Amino acid sequence: MTLIDGKKTSAEIKAEIAQEVKQMIAEGKKVPHLAAVLVGHDGGSETYVAHKIKSCEEVGFKSSLIRFEDDATEQQILDTVDKLNNDPDVDGFIVQLPLPKHINEQKIIEAISPNKDVDGFHPVNLGRLVAGLDTFVSATPSGIVDLIKRYKIETAGKHCVIIGRSNIVGRPLSILMSQKGIDATVTVCHSRTENLKEIASSADILVAAIGRPGFVTADMVKEGAAVIDVGTTRVPATDTKSGFRLKGDVDFENVAPKCSYITPVPGGVGPMTICSLLKNTLKAGKMR
Ligand code: GUN
Repeated sequence: MTLIDGKKTSAEIKAEIAQEVKQMIAEGKKVPHLAAVLVGHDGGSETYVAHKIKSCEEVGFKSSLIRFEDDATEQQILDTVDKLNNDPDVDGFIVQLPLPKHINEQKIIEAISPNKDVDGFHPVNLGRLVAGLDTFVSATPSGIVDLIKRYKIETAGKHCVIIGRSNIVGRPLSILMSQKGIDATVTVCHSRTENLKEIASSADILVAAIGRPGFVTADMVKEGAAVIDVGTTRVPATDTKSGFRLKGDVDFENVAPKCSYITPVPGGVGPMTICSLLKNTLKAGKMR
């Protein structure tokens, strides 16, 4: 069993991006600039955004953080999106989700200019992905594909089962995995899927992206499968400083011995998502 080291792989990719930024500076070009909009004080969002800003520094990007309190209005966020869309210094930006309930997330996503949508959440970018056109691919699916490629996990003709059909992970990943060059045969499972255990245990590559800790048990996994765990649920813990720990969707202890490859939580898919965001921002910077 090979433990997939997302931290190490993301450090390698960051070093490659940093090298490209150095080259851009040497050529007198402007460094890529990522802006992040954070509304409220959700613990997970605070952590993710702090990591994103720190990673920008690490690779030499410019970054900006625009903060709002929980009671910010939808119009305030739309105005900020409009400003960022029209700011020539900003190459790409994200609005961290989830947003407070009184703000319509889809409305905000659709207000972002597709050519600055480095999260790849805008319907134009999702549509371009479906059509096989060049686009910003959202961070988690793109990070998973990078891991699969870097670990040389065989995909052509293999059965990839994805548990979860969200617009952020499951659905775009299903498109990527079936694209020419990756060539997997993909099954997407969800809450209404019948015979989930039978389908999951026929997977050569099994991706769990449902947000239910420990959902994938050993009896759902084929001997020798590659297992990718996207879950990052915070569960209470008495032995950590923060009072919680991250738990994946896979019962790691019992599943790992059956696998050819498996991603841990934390340290698997998580660190890769930031790399993908940086890659998209670099791409946006080069397009401008
Ligand atoms: N919330 C959880 N993951 C993400 C992400 O990739 N982008 C944004 N904007 N919000 C998130």
